[in-house]
Amino acid sequence: MSTHTPVCELLGIEHPIVQAPVAADPRLPAAVSNAGGLGSLGLSWSDDAGDVVRETAGLTDRPLSGNFVLNSDQQHRVDQALSAGLRVVSFIFGDPRSYVDVVHDAGGLVMHTVGSAEEARRAVGCGVDVIIAQGWEAGGHVWGGVATLPLVPAVVDVVAPVPVIAAGGIGDARGVAAVLALGAQAALLGTRFLLADEMRSTRNTGVA
Ligand SMILES: Cc1cc2nc3c(=O)[nH]c(=O)nc-3n(C[C@H](O)[C@H](O)[C@H](O)COP(=O)(O)O)c2cc1C
Repeated sequence: MSTHTPVCELLGIEHPIVQAPVAADPRLPAAVSNAGGLGSLGLSWSDDAGDVVRETAGLTDRPLSGNFVLNSDQQHRVDQALSAGLRVVSFIFGDPRSYVDVVHDAGGLVMHTVGSAEEARRAVGCGVDVIIAQGWEAGGHVWGGVATLPLVPAVVDVVAPVPVIAAGGIGDARGVAAVLALGAQAALLGTRFLLADEMRSTRNTGVA
């Protein structure tokens, strides 16, 4: 099984590993991106999302993503992040429709987290480029009620050829291999990365 999947090419990363957006601290995302995965910033509560993106870009010249929780209006922060050079933007909770064009107009890619096959179909219909299928095992911000094992192949079948990244309960290489076998093209890990050295003194986590 090749682990350099088409979504790795699309995102410009070496390994099919995406770090979940668990904080607005640049250190962990920069370390993950420097190691060949995709580091993610949680930008939903940043005073200036552009400042966080610029600070992180000072630590890595590899691709990065920034995440926005859509239970409040994030247009201003999305604009700040895009102006600072962010080109992979992910969303969770709510409807990404009104954000897709502004990201595409900036030359960026949109990823959206879904918890069901029907939601995945709607997201692709409004122009989302990459689907994150998040099972209910996921830590932190959890959206759906379907477990990762049944959710991932259902979403893959509905959205193909749009790439799917699996999230929820993946903690080691066996879990990554399992979701690749289910048709996902990468794995997104959150809880596992909370143990990283770079998280020890992290500020602005999404942990309540
Ligand atoms: C501490 C923590 C904070 C999180 N905050 C966010 C967030 O702000 N936005 C988001 O899209 N997902 C968030 N998540 C969910 C992750 O994106 C991801 O779906 C989840 O961590 C995957 O499951 P796992 O924790 O079992 O690896 C968070 C997860 C954790 C553990």
